[in-house]
Amino acid sequence: AVLADYEAEDATIVQGVVESNHAGFTGRGFVNYNNQTGSYVEWTVNGPGAVDLTFRFANGTTVNRPMDVTVNGTAVASGLAFNGTGAWTTWQTQTTRATLAAGENKIRATATTANGGPNVDKLIVNVPDNEPPTAP
Ligand code: GCU
Repeated sequence: AVLADYEAEDATIVQGVVESNHAGFTGRGFVNYNNQTGSYVEWTVNGPGAVDLTFRFANGTTVNRPMDVTVNGTAVASGLAFNGTGAWTTWQTQTTRATLAAGENKIRATATTANGGPNVDKLIVNVPDNEPPTAP
């Protein structure tokens, strides 16, 4: 069950810019991470519960743009792959699982290479099918 979509352009953006020049995004645009290590987007999501964190992204290069994903500063995925999607207008998803604390959670996706992150459209928070739903 999809709980909610969180647009990247509405999140906290550090070393990135909101753009809309590549079609296929939802909302007002997407975040173009600066081409540098450490650039990040941080979303605020209410918990608690086990969730799948699905990032919708495009990578028009042929080189992986891995990112570390943390929840409240704790790593949930290290070097999560964001491989080339074939074009900046071709959007795919990448998912990692996490457990959210009660109340506000800070979910951060940080580029780990000098290429920066991919272009990120949004974060989709989903309750896995094998987990009982929790109140959002
Ligand atoms: C191009 C593309 C951007 C992308 C950038 C990059 O400039 O138009 O959308 O973010 O490459 O390599 O990160």
